[in-house]
Amino acid sequence: MRGTADLHAPAMNGRLGALSDYPFPRLAALLADVTPSANRPPLALSVGEPQHPPPPMIAERLAANTPLWSKYPPTAGTPDFRNAVAGWLTRRYGLPDGMVDPERMVLPLSGTREALFLIAQVTVPETKAGRRPAVLIPNPFYAAYEGAAVMAGAEPVFLPASAETGFLPDLDAIPEEVLARTALFYLCTPANPQGAIADRAYLRKALTLARAHGFTLLVDECYAEIWDKAPPPGGLEVARDMGGEEPTANLLVFHSLSKRSNAAGLRSGFCAGDPDLIQAFQRLRSYSMAGVPLPVLDASAALWRDEAHVEENRNLYRAKIDAAEAALAGRLGFYRPPGGFFLWLDVGDGEWAARELWRQAALRVLPGAYLTRPDADGANRGHSFIRVALVHDTETVAEACARIAEILS
Ligand SMILES: Cc1ncc(COP(=O)(O)O)c(C=O)c1O
Repeated sequence: MRGTADLHAPAMNGRLGALSDYPFPRLAALLADVTPSANRPPLALSVGEPQHPPPPMIAERLAANTPLWSKYPPTAGTPDFRNAVAGWLTRRYGLPDGMVDPERMVLPLSGTREALFLIAQVTVPETKAGRRPAVLIPNPFYAAYEGAAVMAGAEPVFLPASAETGFLPDLDAIPEEVLARTALFYLCTPANPQGAIADRAYLRKALTLARAHGFTLLVDECYAEIWDKAPPPGGLEVARDMGGEEPTANLLVFHSLSKRSNAAGLRSGFCAGDPDLIQAFQRLRSYSMAGVPLPVLDASAALWRDEAHVEENRNLYRAKIDAAEAALAGRLGFYRPPGGFFLWLDVGDGEWAARELWRQAALRVLPGAYLTRPDADGANRGHSFIRVALVHDTETVAEACARIAEILS
């Protein structure tokens, strides 16, 4: 029995206790005692997992590479994968040829979540400016950012990103004292969940701050290919405009095939940018993470070289946002998200709404407060919201949005 004189519980990392509960177990607990009265199969609008069919080229490339499953993949991936990524970045962001050096500036990832977590181990020192380092996180935020900051021993500093600030952090409002000890800034554009897009001036200001105060600007661009009217600018575009000897200094961009190519199960993404950071990250990853399997790298390279499936995908999302708009315009604070595929609806009380939608319509949505922390004034600005992921087919989304309007309006 634990606690007796000669049997002690194993020592544990005390930082684990500082982690908030992950949003999805919280949702499961919230809905545990509610039985849906609707006579219909449950529909998950809570998870950002695209349900459009994955492109057939994935199965084709995996089948063609069966012998490669017996090989350990190198941490740096293959030249073919890195070239495919450098080519895509160059075309997508109008970069000069040669700006993205595939040898020094690109690293394959097994999906981006683990890497978003692990990068804090590279970028967060013991102390900065003689004090505990800070990691800047937009509020609301993707949970991995907070976990990364906490486990790296940093203070997560949540930057309000509500309607008053255009759903992006107000860069002018970050105190100098915080900037001085900032080690890492996670910026998500298009933002999950609000869909806001940082323009070039915003990204330029963020990168200028990173260089002035000696921290890493990490731009999470995993929703970059899902947009309504205009393609979101990227961190590398701004680095190009700013020029200099090392244009990507202090900058990392993260991209994923999970949303762009409906391939969340493939676990494939990459990060690119500052060669020193990439090199340090590769060094850490050699010790800590599995390389991306060679057949997956080959399929991923084919996906990054293809735009047809991405265009088709984007059109499907537009049709769904049209359907959502038809059902919800003028209600629950609906607005067309400029990027990404989430609705961020102001329903008054997100937990109440999640329980009602589950009870009356078997719809699972995520209370906004599970993606936010209280701001400095003590107010949790996610409390009145729900996040709705438009990941199913258009007809299903249209019907679900009509039910949401009916039940919550
Ligand atoms: C903002 C954001 N970043 C990163 C990820 C991680 O995606 P993946 O690990 O599938 O690349 C997600 C997934 O939902 C996300 O919403």
